[in-house]
Amino acid sequence: MPRIANRVIPFGTTIFTEINALAQQYNAVNLGQGRPDFDGAPEVVQAYVNALQSGLYNQYAPGAGALVARQGVANFIGRHYGMDIDPQSGVIITAGATEAVFASIMGLIDPGDEVIIIEPFFDSYAPGVLMAGGVPVYVPLYPPQWQFNADELRKAFNPKTRAIILNTPHNPIGKVFSYQELTQIADLCKEYDVTVISDEVYEHLIFDDAVHIPIATLPNMFERTVTIGSAGKTFGMTGWKTGWVYGHPDLIKGVTQARQYITFVGNHPAQIALSEAFKLPSSYYEDYRAMYTEKRDLMMQGVNEAGFKSFTPQGTYFVMSDFSELFDGDDVAFSHYMITEIGVAVIPTSAFYSAEHKHLGSKHVRFAFCKGDDVIRVANERMHKLKR
Ligand SMILES: Cc1ncc(COP(=O)(O)O)c(C=O)c1O
Repeated sequence: MPRIANRVIPFGTTIFTEINALAQQYNAVNLGQGRPDFDGAPEVVQAYVNALQSGLYNQYAPGAGALVARQGVANFIGRHYGMDIDPQSGVIITAGATEAVFASIMGLIDPGDEVIIIEPFFDSYAPGVLMAGGVPVYVPLYPPQWQFNADELRKAFNPKTRAIILNTPHNPIGKVFSYQELTQIADLCKEYDVTVISDEVYEHLIFDDAVHIPIATLPNMFERTVTIGSAGKTFGMTGWKTGWVYGHPDLIKGVTQARQYITFVGNHPAQIALSEAFKLPSSYYEDYRAMYTEKRDLMMQGVNEAGFKSFTPQGTYFVMSDFSELFDGDDVAFSHYMITEIGVAVIPTSAFYSAEHKHLGSKHVRFAFCKGDDVIRVANERMHKLKR
């Protein structure tokens, strides 16, 4: 009898698919998935239309991506962080950050290598490491400030450690790692000769006085880091599934070798539009932040009034909230209760933890506030029913 591969059996269905289906069934306001319910910049949409209609980009792009898009990434990184990236050998345009993460894992990790994953984590990291034959080693962050324990971090490093997957600004917490935290990680990476896969898709979604620091900019880190970005997050176009990975050519070579047999190339017209998006003026980023700061404040008002205890996001469009004063069950039971009784869909955060640390997420849920203000207001209104 034909059967599916053992490697995928433990993966099940992602929590996002489950929650979306349930939200639809109960007509709940969906603050589950990080899927904006409004469009990105019209001039960038127009650039995509133009690319399609020009008749020049409806066939395969070059393997590493259209050169104008790679040049766009290099300029963008130079402009924002002062790093000198070679667009020919130091950048690949990928099918979203998800492919960039997967190709980085496949191209930089050997079977049996240990890979440190900071918890909670974006759900694709651990399956990626497992599919590569790697061994995930989990290091949790602890509330209320969501810091790692320095001893636990150090103990996770050993001669078998090949890589660490870092995510800053962090989904689902909304934390932006500080220079001091990044230095602690970087020092261990240098001591143990470890590669960093740094997922920085929310690099431009930061609030107040938070500063996003790419770990690749720390001393002697560029040569051991690949850094990932996404048009889905930076330009609000999640449906394009267009992202990038940049770094030292020696590492990008490995990512390219893997990537050529994953998708071979990404969507060509989207890459041309991406190259135009990189030309948006700095006011675009200021407006983007201002809009999301308002949404964050509105969401925080709702969760505070309802009685959650929440970490105020320094970045991303997520709020991670402790519901223990509102409900006695675990996060999965609470998420079901939220959808069926309150009419608001949220994500149970145990989905962002390994089996060994699931309990750490069992009293939190994640709200996504990349939604119209009216949608957030309706959710906030509905959550008044939660108050004990
Ligand atoms: C931390 C993080 N990394 C990667 C991704 C995936 O990005 P993309 O849609 O570009 O594949 C997401 C999307 O939610 C994310 O939150």
